[in-house]
Amino acid sequence: MMGKLEVAYTEVIKAIMISSVQDEDDISFDQAGQWAEDIVKIAGELPKLSEVEKDESARAFFLQMAKHAGEIQNLAKSERWEGMMAALFRLQATCMGCHEKIRN
Ligand code: HEC
Repeated sequence: MMGKLEVAYTEVIKAIMISSVQDEDDISFDQAGQWAEDIVKIAGELPKLSEVEKDESARAFFLQMAKHAGEIQNLAKSERWEGMMAALFRLQATCMGCHEKIRN
């Protein structure tokens, strides 16, 4: 279930890191926005899986994930560089928080 998520997440990181060195590059904003949108979608789909459905803390983590990915998406849409890195770190903290709590 995590495969798709990993791809989208890696692409967001790539897009954001690449933008930071090529500041004229608008394509990276598009990319970051699209992949972040994917994460929002996946975050909406995963809680419907039977193994997650009844797990309150997992659902809370997915809500967090959707929120932070949505922040990245909005910042990318308005091509606002500021705050994007911070949102990415919050997203990453959510991935790691859930892995620490739910996965062993
Ligand atoms: C709600 C909890 C939760 C969140 C949030 C979460 N994960 Fe996971 N992740 C898991 C669990 C549980 C597993 C192990 C079971 C599995 O693979 O289905 C896992 C496994 C993985 C793996 C190992 C590969 C695999 O398929 O087993 C990767 C990579 C991964 N997650 C990436 C991410 C990324 C990137 C994010 C954030 C964008 C994230 N995860 C957010 C619960 C979560």
